[in-house]
Amino acid sequence: MKGIILAGGKGTRLYPLTRSISKQILPVYDKPMIYYPLSILMLAGIRQVLIITTPDAKLSFQGLLHDGSQWGMDFLYASQAEPRGLADAFLVGKSFMAEEPVCLILGDNIFFGHGLPNLLRNAARLNSGALIFAYPVRDPERYGVVEFDKHGAALSIEEKPLKPRSNFAIPGIYFYDSQVIEIAEQLKPSWRNELEITDVNLEYMHRGQLRVQQLGRGIAWLDAGTPESLLQAANFVQAVEDRQGMMISCPEEIAFRQGYIDRQQLLNLANELVENRYGNYLLRMAREEAF
Ligand code: G1P
Repeated sequence: MKGIILAGGKGTRLYPLTRSISKQILPVYDKPMIYYPLSILMLAGIRQVLIITTPDAKLSFQGLLHDGSQWGMDFLYASQAEPRGLADAFLVGKSFMAEEPVCLILGDNIFFGHGLPNLLRNAARLNSGALIFAYPVRDPERYGVVEFDKHGAALSIEEKPLKPRSNFAIPGIYFYDSQVIEIAEQLKPSWRNELEITDVNLEYMHRGQLRVQQLGRGIAWLDAGTPESLLQAANFVQAVEDRQGMMISCPEEIAFRQGYIDRQQLLNLANELVENRYGNYLLRMAREEAF
């Protein structure tokens, strides 16, 4: 399975913060926002990742993440001149996918919680159809919303409905087989002139090939696309990290624990981040000190 991180868009809901810097590079407490979705792909065991950015921001992302080899990963970059909607990721990523299944994750979505690594590894085994998730929220009208029948199968899916039929939002992580390219190629732009991911999900639903898995309350799903949610996400990460002394979504740690890099490589990465909390965290891990 391959991975795509969508880190394009204008980030207008964060203006003026994002006038000259990409949203997904902004900090969420102690690391750039894109580290969070990237860590999720790494936890799923996905190592080949396409990062889709705006043309202006491509160099900044490359400066931050390089070719991925420092973390035992393989990153490619593509840019999207105009934001044409989430489903455009499959048109931009067509040759990258090369008929393999793919996980698309949005660059501003943050996931954390018990059981998540297992859930992700299972999801990444998908080789036919589609798997998406549902998460209860207070304000479903901001999201794609799924309604279930009494057997737990998806009955309807609507994008930002004025009158949501349930409180289950669809988080920005999606697993698809290679049919997704042909489906995306046939989409028509919506009223907001975007190729909607919701239309992709509806097509899988009509084909009888959509699974929707409910995420329990033990998992936190946050997005960081508005000033309020960005601050909330940072506060959440700070509170948990400070309490546990462990980091959320630290790619170096995940690379080490998954065996993508060895102790010496971790030590080298730690030494580059001299004299700060992040570097010390890696250093303690490399030296096998308890934390
Ligand atoms: C997008 C999707 C929506 C999904 C959300 C998750 O919304 O269109 O279905 O629930 O991401 O973050 P947008 O970011 O375009 O508002």
